[in-house]
Amino acid sequence: MSETMSETMSETPTDPLTADAATVPDPTLAPVVVTVCTTCRQANADPEAIRPGLVLAETLNAADLPPNVTLRGTECLSACSRSCVLVIEGGEERWSYIYGDLDPAEHSADILAGIHAYAGTTDGLVPWRARPVVFRKQSVARIPPKAHPSVELGTSALTQPATSTASAAKDT
Ligand code: FES
Repeated sequence: MSETMSETMSETPTDPLTADAATVPDPTLAPVVVTVCTTCRQANADPEAIRPGLVLAETLNAADLPPNVTLRGTECLSACSRSCVLVIEGGEERWSYIYGDLDPAEHSADILAGIHAYAGTTDGLVPWRARPVVFRKQSVARIPPKAHPSVELGTSALTQPATSTASAAKDT
């Protein structure tokens, strides 16, 4: 499945702090795992100070996460130049996303809203306009689900013009 910015969606992200029972994601949806790097810090930050990545992880841990979401912290996701970083993934059918340049003071509420939106999908593809801005603008990468059709590779692929192999829709 591809996705474009032209998808129609008029809703704004649900505020997870005020969501009523009708907007809580179905707990039977596939489990989602959010992995937050707890050692992320900005390049010139004091290495002895509390890491913003840990602050982000603790903030999300204290928040009202959907019932199908598990949060975990880990040390270094090897994307240090995009600190702070998190990964959101879940099940065989969902796209996975890596987000970076996250500031817990500025982005925590929107990240939480984005987690709620993602956890309520079966494929991980939250309509563009329903995504918080931080998830629209600060994607480092997205990874297709294992079942996603693959571009057929072979020696001929190396001789094709670059435009013919770049069929995936731009997502960020
Ligand atoms: S310290 Fe967070 S990605 Fe490396």
